[in-house]
Amino acid sequence: MTDAWEALQRECARCQECSLCQTRQNVVFGVGNPQAELMLVGEGPGAHEDEQGIPFVGKAGKLLDDMLAMIGLDRTKVYIANVVKCRPPGNRDPLNVEQDACIGYLLRQIDLIRPKILVCLGRIAALRLISDKFRITKEHGLWFDCNGIRTTAIYHPSALLRDPSKRPESFDDLKSIQREVLRICTRTELYLPWLPQQEPPA
Ligand code: URA
Repeated sequence: MTDAWEALQRECARCQECSLCQTRQNVVFGVGNPQAELMLVGEGPGAHEDEQGIPFVGKAGKLLDDMLAMIGLDRTKVYIANVVKCRPPGNRDPLNVEQDACIGYLLRQIDLIRPKILVCLGRIAALRLISDKFRITKEHGLWFDCNGIRTTAIYHPSALLRDPSKRPESFDDLKSIQREVLRICTRTELYLPWLPQQEPPA
């Protein structure tokens, strides 16, 4: 990990830029490989994430792990962060003022990781990273260029838990992400475990 990454993590850990710092147990900076070519961005920590200081460890996180597994990935091969790093009480959406206070950390994470592919998990991340007019129901699974990074949005795993009828569409979106990974990510030892010249996964 670089000095810049560690400095950012330290700065974030003592952040008091919005009132969420008064109710948080932990700042949830992110998890995974900061050298990853694929980065996923959620909304903000829930109760379990706040308790453990790790993103996506509750039910939605279990589903996210399953979704990654469907395309041959796991959280050690990607980087996962959120728009806001502290839990909004009662699991409400993060307020704009909270997002504004926190977004700089995410943008600096993206700058340092320089992923080739960015996946927004749900509308809050898509509104921040793709367009402030983003419509998740109409535009999920489409690809955008965001400052030179191939970017898409898929339904948030919590939305898929609430409404399983959206799962087939999300599966198509995941397959599209897998195709993009195979097309533009170069660290094939991470992304192509099923290539014939390699041992198949156990
Ligand atoms: N939902 C999110 O958006 N992020 C988490 O870390 C957990 C649940």
